Amino acid sequence: MSVSPDRFAALWRSLLPIGRNGDGGYVRYSWSEAELACREWFVEEALDRDLDVEIDGNGNLWAWWGSPDKSSDSAIVTGSHLDSVPHGGAYDGPLGVVSALLAVDVLRERGVRPARPLAVVVFTEEEGARFGVPCLGSRLLTGAVAPDRARDLRDRDGKTLADAMAQAGLDPDRLGPDPARLARVGAFVELHIEQGRALDDLGRPVGVASAIWPHGRYRLDFTGQGNHAGTTRMTDRHDPMLTLAYTVLAANKEARLQGAHATVGKVDVEPNATNAIPARAIAWLDARAADEATLDGLVEAIRKRAEDRAGRDGTAFTLKAESTTTEVSFDNPVSRLAARELDAPILPTGAGHDAGVLAGHVDTAMLFVRNPTGISHAPQEHASDVDCAAGVDGLADVLARLCR
Ligand code: GLV
Ligand code: MN
Ligand code: MN
Repeated sequence: MSVSPDRFAALWRSLLPIGRNGDGGYVRYSWSEAELACREWFVEEALDRDLDVEIDGNGNLWAWWGSPDKSSDSAIVTGSHLDSVPHGGAYDGPLGVVSALLAVDVLRERGVRPARPLAVVVFTEEEGARFGVPCLGSRLLTGAVAPDRARDLRDRDGKTLADAMAQAGLDPDRLGPDPARLARVGAFVELHIEQGRALDDLGRPVGVASAIWPHGRYRLDFTGQGNHAGTTRMTDRHDPMLTLAYTVLAANKEARLQGAHATVGKVDVEPNATNAIPARAIAWLDARAADEATLDGLVEAIRKRAEDRAGRDGTAFTLKAESTTTEVSFDNPVSRLAARELDAPILPTGAGHDAGVLAGHVDTAMLFVRNPTGISHAPQEHASDVDCAAGVDGLADVLARLCR
């Protein structure tokens, strides 16, 4: 028994209108109205399938087929996230959730009676698009982020995570590590849209992840002297925007030199007026590399160049890591089983995932579904219904083997 592309499309379409923007992109920040509606959609779909739904202290949703065994690590867990980056694509996250629900259907239709409990999970704030720290739900679960720090993370409007969760009816005092829950999980499998074109180049619909590049987010603060744009002589300026602009170019150059990736995709400027030299600018650097030594070298090189330039501009510069993720290897029995079962190509990725966080604690595998545009975190992200259906079948095959 396998899922038809039409059947995939029917469930997929039911989620598509939620949080869709005029540009075709999605704005589904965690705990926003749109993300809450996605959660509601998930709970309804899970209940329709007679799954037992619960929400953990960190706001992650779990839908159980079979009772979680409190005394063993027998549970097989699959899923992803429903939040998005600003104006992101439809597939990043939701494809893994929709595929997990459909995989449950496929297993039932195949007559599989899992010998182990199986859960579909939705992790919260995977993108870090609202509160700045990616994979926040899985990091809290595993203890990688301290609950006090998490409660006080703020969105652009200054609202704390604690307030946003309380407004959604959750108790932020329950945030924090959940070793008992984690101990019940024997394997985690996350299916995800591919965020590059490797599968398309290989002519294959589904792949398996080998590793996640180490990566980090760094806050760059540039401070100068706010002043009048018309009356301040060019030689008298201490313009932090110049230091920022130079730093962006330097980051790009250093990343190219080192075969790594560096991006500045978010800036705040104060006072943000056309006719004023800014007093302050804040930028966020996203840096990624194939190994940790290269990543460290890249960030240090960018820091050095920005400091030198700040000296010349008469501005001040600081760099602070907001979140870092070490290299993740998926070299474990579950991932090897997935690669064997699907006879799929094995690919590394530069994108972060909850699977990367879980991999430090539990045997974890990732499946990728072909994305012919190669574009992600933008509206053009795409996978065909035929490939998505192949992804569901592949996921069901892997889960069937694991649940035995
Ligand atoms: C998650 O999508 C990331 O930023 O890698
Ligand atoms: Mn993403
Ligand atoms: Mn994702």
